Amino acid sequence: MSALRVHHIGYLVKKIEKAKQTFELLGYRTEQDVVYDDIRKIDICFMVMGDCRVELVSPVSEDSVVAGLIRKYKNSPYHICYETDNYEAAYAELTASGFLAIDTPTPAPALDGRKVVFLTSAAVGMIELIVPA
Ligand code: NI
Repeated sequence: MSALRVHHIGYLVKKIEKAKQTFELLGYRTEQDVVYDDIRKIDICFMVMGDCRVELVSPVSEDSVVAGLIRKYKNSPYHICYETDNYEAAYAELTASGFLAIDTPTPAPALDGRKVVFLTSAAVGMIELIVPA
């Protein structure tokens, strides 16, 4: 497998400001304040502690991509995002190993418009891959 590096842990939250305050209480600092992603209808905020980056994700409307997930999982981590120096090879290896793409590369406003793609595995659930610009 092409080397992957963890970029962030995606964390579903119902109330992003309260979640932000609570992560601050835990010792995280705000790396990037709340950004609205109008493609996915979510608010996003990046928090960091040491090498760990958490992406708070909160649905803004009922047609948000995560509206169904938050009903099921409540406030909870739900994906790990990876970056890699060799995206094409990593994507090919993941899909050959049983990961199914659940969307196509789509711009992520909270990541300076870089594209991301989500894949799912029966064994480990959802992952996200950053597509290099
Ligand atoms: Ni993410």
